[in-house]
Amino acid sequence: MQKATITLTPLALKDAPALIETVFPAQKVSFEAQKERKAGPGQTLTALGSFWKGRKPLILVRAVVLGSLLPPTNDAEADLALFEKLMAFDDEGLARRALIGNAVSPAEIAARIQLENPWDYFKATLRRGDVTGGDVRWMRFPLDADAEGISLRWQRSLSDDEKLVIYRKLMATYSSYEEKASLGKRPEELDQEWLYAPVWAVVNRHYAHLGVNVRSISELVEQLGILRYGHRPRVGDTFSGGGSIPFEAARIGCDVYASDLNPIACMLTWGALNIIGASPKRQTEIEKLQREVAKAVDKEITDLGFEHDEQGNRIKAYLYCIEAKCPETGWLVPLAPSWVVSPRQRVVAKLVPNFALKRFDIKLEFGVSASAIEEAQKGTVSDGDMLYELEGKTYRTSIKTLRGDYRKEDGSTGNRLRLWEKSDFKPRPDDIFQERLYAIQWITKDTLYAGRQETYFAAPTQADLEHERAVEKVLSENLSRWQNEGLVPDMAIEQGDETTRLLRERGWTHWHHLFSPRDLLKLALLRKHISDPALAPELCGTLDFCSKLSRWIVRFSSGGGSDFTSNVFSNQALNTLYNWANRSFFDHSFVQSYKNTPIHVNASVVCSPSREITEEQDIFITDPPYADAVAYEEITEFFIAWLRKNPPKPFDDWVWDSRRALAVKGSGDDFRHGMVAAYKAMAEHMPDNGMQCVMFTHQDTAVWGDLIGIFWAAGLQVVAAWYIATETTSKLKDGGYVQGTVILMLKKRAAGERTGFKQRLLPAVRQEVARQIETMMHLNDAVEAHHGEPVWGDSDLQMAGYAAALKVLTAYTRIGDEDVTSFALRPRARGEVTVVDEIVQQAAETASSLLVPEDLTADAWGRLTGIERFVLRMMDMETAGAGKLDNYQNFAKAFRVTDYTRVMGDMRPNNARLKRVSEYASRDLTDATEIGVTRLGQLIIALQQLLKDTEAQVIVEQLRSEMADFLEVRSLLVDMLAFIERKSPEPQARTAAEVLGARLKNLRFGE
Ligand SMILES: C[S@@+](CC[C@H](N)C(=O)[O-])C[C@H]1O[C@@H](n2cnc3c(N)ncnc32)[C@H](O)[C@@H]1O
Repeated sequence: MQKATITLTPLALKDAPALIETVFPAQKVSFEAQKERKAGPGQTLTALGSFWKGRKPLILVRAVVLGSLLPPTNDAEADLALFEKLMAFDDEGLARRALIGNAVSPAEIAARIQLENPWDYFKATLRRGDVTGGDVRWMRFPLDADAEGISLRWQRSLSDDEKLVIYRKLMATYSSYEEKASLGKRPEELDQEWLYAPVWAVVNRHYAHLGVNVRSISELVEQLGILRYGHRPRVGDTFSGGGSIPFEAARIGCDVYASDLNPIACMLTWGALNIIGASPKRQTEIEKLQREVAKAVDKEITDLGFEHDEQGNRIKAYLYCIEAKCPETGWLVPLAPSWVVSPRQRVVAKLVPNFALKRFDIKLEFGVSASAIEEAQKGTVSDGDMLYELEGKTYRTSIKTLRGDYRKEDGSTGNRLRLWEKSDFKPRPDDIFQERLYAIQWITKDTLYAGRQETYFAAPTQADLEHERAVEKVLSENLSRWQNEGLVPDMAIEQGDETTRLLRERGWTHWHHLFSPRDLLKLALLRKHISDPALAPELCGTLDFCSKLSRWIVRFSSGGGSDFTSNVFSNQALNTLYNWANRSFFDHSFVQSYKNTPIHVNASVVCSPSREITEEQDIFITDPPYADAVAYEEITEFFIAWLRKNPPKPFDDWVWDSRRALAVKGSGDDFRHGMVAAYKAMAEHMPDNGMQCVMFTHQDTAVWGDLIGIFWAAGLQVVAAWYIATETTSKLKDGGYVQGTVILMLKKRAAGERTGFKQRLLPAVRQEVARQIETMMHLNDAVEAHHGEPVWGDSDLQMAGYAAALKVLTAYTRIGDEDVTSFALRPRARGEVTVVDEIVQQAAETASSLLVPEDLTADAWGRLTGIERFVLRMMDMETAGAGKLDNYQNFAKAFRVTDYTRVMGDMRPNNARLKRVSEYASRDLTDATEIGVTRLGQLIIALQQLLKDTEAQVIVEQLRSEMADFLEVRSLLVDMLAFIERKSPEPQARTAAEVLGARLKNLRFGE
């Protein structure tokens, strides 16, 4: 395509604010971010390593980059509309996405839309004899294809552009954004040129005054960069992790700089940019390389003969367990929490006493009954004890006793497990824990390459055990050489929160101890071939499915596939297991077919602590580690150990050590020092008009206080904050909860000292919060009037309120006699309320006083307590079909409700709701509960009584006697009842509220 001519004035937007400071479609971004998350393995970067959790959604990154570059004009509504077009959130984008998603059947389309000429688009086939072709020709949409006895399909000759006519009509039949967007593909899944084809004319018109003339996102990004910074924008991420931030920024046309302390993170970031982002030619080459390596290793293993039997059947999985000697009987007992091998093939392992050897033979039983499966599920380890039966007697010994746990002089616990040595690759005969192969899953020879393999289980035969010994022999002859050559790790396990248990529970001291001899052999053969860096991620992908930490997962139900060997990082911890499964080489799929979106910008990946940045960037977007985040610095050593010697170029420039000591982690003093250093370095490496975006999980205000203090001390000023609901977890404890990400936007604080005083600050904060929220409400009303849906929900307004307050605060360098750096770095006293906490609370209060629900007067609102506001506010939201638990969580925080769960009727993440009036139990409404002591609580009791046929008059008398200020609050009670009458979802509660309200209203003085 011919490049557009550019007539731009470089730096013309040097001092312009960014659109994201005032306008951001947070609700839609939230929906799209969750949609991306739900795609699971379908996410663009996941194929590089599903062991890395918590990559930021690409759609969110795209929105942040664009929002940071786009300038606002004097028409906020038009700016927003344009932003949405660029994100493919607008109706046209949604129609295109739905078309490619192809989720709506022609029959459903026929039922939904009006169309005079349906047969230009669709073809009908008669299904019933009584309908004639003649009838069909005259039919119009809408129609019920089933009732008419016809099947519909698209005319084959139609192009996508022609089908769009129909999809546009179809989209107009759905009312909410969520309905429309769930029908379609994600924007990144479409051909970008086609998706955005109609957008460029609008963009060029909207920014004609700036000389913008573009025909793609990357041209737009480049031109906006020139206008703002004088060149294509440079985006940096110094905590790059799985690489989604630099990847997406590069994909839409920014030059990127990515760094991370951890070489595995660097490898994944490099992979995102150079494998997913490779040219199609290079990607084909990578896939070819993978196939060649897989083939070469497969041949070596086949030649060794360890994975085949004489008939040519091949092993799929090996099932191993631990064995330990019972101190009471002296018998060697196999340990496993369950001896079920396959519920669906009805196979269990059975322990058969062998009195001569004082150990158990392990037999596999086939076609067993349901009760035998249930029996096998009891296993021989339960609640931390070894538990087994011998000659009708049950023996129980705690694992701690088996290990010989004892208290050391310094108070710590030690045990008598022998510590494995670097040359060990299996237990020694007198070790407390032995390892034993007890079952093998085979694939029949004829179905090895079939779409559906036929598998069966068998106990190891003499020949299989000989293979085990032969593998061990290869290892004893080669291990030391392989370790020297870097084909097998020789790295010691450093102690830490996640890693100490490997030593404590198994005596393992080196990373290779986590792998069975077969794994070590197979992996050494594979490692030998990793000479191209693009093969490294898949080596890690393979490692993730190896080791003694990989579970055998059995399937009880008929859905969801067969029993399988799961991956080590199915959770983010290194848990030792009593029984585990190892895949054969044949069962690993070393060949990945990666998604491909070529990247054409300058992208560098550096392995260094974030404070050591040396290159200037215009925009930093980061997602730093903190608090309870995953201990990447410990668990990734599992992979580092395999790549650290002779890593392929350019990985050889990196430090192949997790450098745990330098990792930012936790939430204490070290964390704050590390973070201030990192953000100071970034602030110093950006121009005065640079921008920063920090993403972090929405947590309590203490985290806010700390983080804000850190950015403030780093010389940054808050300019905006948005709340994005990124994913729904199923944390049962909380009844499931929605994880929100705060997008905090920061700029460099203007040079010079400014001292603020709290007393003067608070009114300024109140004013700024009110101004911010009112502006947003104004735009909300306008957009709702035009499009039927507002831009923001209350949580967005709330968050923007915080940001407005923090903007005021972080403009200063001193508050009273304390300067910000000492504020940020000084150790916190427990429960200390800092100035940031106070300001945030002030903002929350100002915001909550403004967010008066419809149908309630500001005066009545002003007289309510936190929990009353919470209940009424949420009741109002529910009338609009709310139901998102994070809304309730956020409002509970804002209204300072201590325990909102007491007033909740359902806590499921997407089905949350308040208790109905009739659902409150009397224990919910006592003087000891938050709601029980309020006037609303008393009204709920009153309504319940009314519903149980107590006389209204009696209830009024009761209220009067219970409320000392009854006459003063009567009108408030009437207002609340009128509100319940309008908003309660229960018809009987509405009627009761009406009756009681009327009675209170008409109360004559003295009655
Ligand atoms: C929350 S993760 C980033 C995830 C990333 N945004 C993604 O989408 O995958 C935080 C990262 O910070 C890195 N990290 C921790 N301390 C660091 C330091 N001092 N310097 C640089 N990176 C560090 C960790 O290795 C980890 O990869």
